[in-house]
Order: sequence, then structure tokens, then C-alpha cells
Amino acid sequence: MSILTLKHFNSSFEGDNMLTINLNNENLFFKDVNKDDLQEVLKLYNQNETNIYATGIGRPMSYEDINQKYLEVLVNSHEFFAGIFICNSDGVESKMIGVIKGRIDYDNNEEAWISSILIDSSYQKNGIGTKAVSAILKMLKNTYDIKAVMIGTLSGNSIGREFWNKIGFSYIRTIEQYFKLNNKTEDFIIMKKDLKK
Ligand SMILES: CC(C)(COP(=O)(O)OP(=O)(O)OC[C@H]1O[C@@H](n2cnc3c(N)ncnc32)[C@H](O)[C@@H]1OP(=O)(O)O)[C@@H](O)C(=O)NCCC(=O)NCCS
Repeated sequence: MSILTLKHFNSSFEGDNMLTINLNNENLFFKDVNKDDLQEVLKLYNQNETNIYATGIGRPMSYEDINQKYLEVLVNSHEFFAGIFICNSDGVESKMIGVIKGRIDYDNNEEAWISSILIDSSYQKNGIGTKAVSAILKMLKNTYDIKAVMIGTLSGNSIGREFWNKIGFSYIRTIEQYFKLNNKTEDFIIMKKDLKK
């Protein structure tokens, strides 16, 4: 069963609170990141070198970095930042195993961006990332009437590109020499998925 709670949401996106996502999807549970979760989120982002692809900063994150991101989202009604929790067989939330972050486009309310997704490395390759994105796409389409979702991935992140491809995102364009990561210049590859009626 899918439970969607939309607190603080103003349909004209003029509120001063983050776009709230609290929904159940089978054994996954999405809940807005709150201040008490930040240490846990930080641990996930800094878990290994690959996870740096989900942060958009070319170094391990500090608590100040994550707090800053959290505060930005908190005051912005277009943005969401949700923890991905796994439930036990009774449907009780057990553990945060990932995060997903994004926003509804400021200029075009029919488009959204997923700016970051990260799954705990010990839970990867089990279809959880796919399930999480599918649930978010469904929610964006059904609740916010979003028609297309965009993502951006760094050129060195071949797993990320493969992941988005597999979910049905298609290449749109490349922003060359976008970012320097580990002394290597990375392009930014933008991909898009139309959400069918
Ligand atoms: C990208 C990420 C979110 C995928 O999460 P996940 O739960 O492992 O993904 P799924 O199990 O749903 O995998 C779906 C598809 O993605 C691709 N994929 C995922 N992990 C892969 C890997 N390690 N190697 C190659 N392909 C991979 C495969 O095509 C896979 O389909 P398959 O299982 O049928 O082969 C996860 O690897 C991650 O957190 N990476 C670090 C942060 C990051 O790069 N985020 C994306 C930024 S653009």
C-alpha cells in the first residue's frame, strides 16, 4: 500500500518549507531527512570513494556541508531530500540505507530533477535504487503532475550512467569540463525521462 503524506505543501510552490515526501513503497519507506538524521546521511555519503559521485563536491563531506544542504532544502518548497529506509517483514522501518534528493524546476513546474541518489554499498545491486527512483517518479507524476525528470551524472561515473539508462533515461546533452574530481576533469552528462500519461 502506498501512503503519501504531504505536509507543508503549497500547490503554487510558494511555501517556505521543503517539498515533503513521506511514502511507503513495498519494503522501502521514504522519509524527509531531518536534523537528527544528518550524521547518518554523512556516513553514507562518505562511505567510499564512489559515493562522492552523489555529492557534487570533490572531497569527503563535512558535517557543515551536509547541514548546509539540509538547510537549503528545508527553506525551499520546490526541493526534497528524503532518506530511503528499509522495512522489516512487519512493515516497521528499520534502517536508513540511502538518500534521494531533488527538486521541481523553478522555471518549469512540469519538470523535475533528481540531483542525488545514493544507496548504502552493502545494499547495492539488489534493485533498491531502481525501486526508489520508480517510486519517486510515480509520486512526482501523480502528485505534482510532472511530465519529465532530468538527472546529471559525471562522465567518470559509468555505473551511474548505466543505472539511469536501465531505468529509461536518455542522453540529452553534455556540459564539457564541468567539474574537477581527483585531479581529473569530468564532463556533466544530462539525461531525461518523459513520464508517460
Ligand atoms: C547508482 C546507484 C544508486 C545504484 O543503486 P543500486 O540499488 O545498486 O541499483 P540497482 O540494483 O537498482 O541497479 C540497476 C541497474 O544499474 C546498473 N548497475 C547498478 N550497479 C552497478 C554496478 N556496480 N556495476 C554495473 N552496473 C550497475 C545495472 O544496469 C543494474 O541493472 P542489473 O542489476 O539488471 O544489472 C548506486 O550504485 C550508488 O549509490 N552509487 C554511488 C552514488 C552514485 O553514483 N549515485 C548516482 C549519481 S548519478
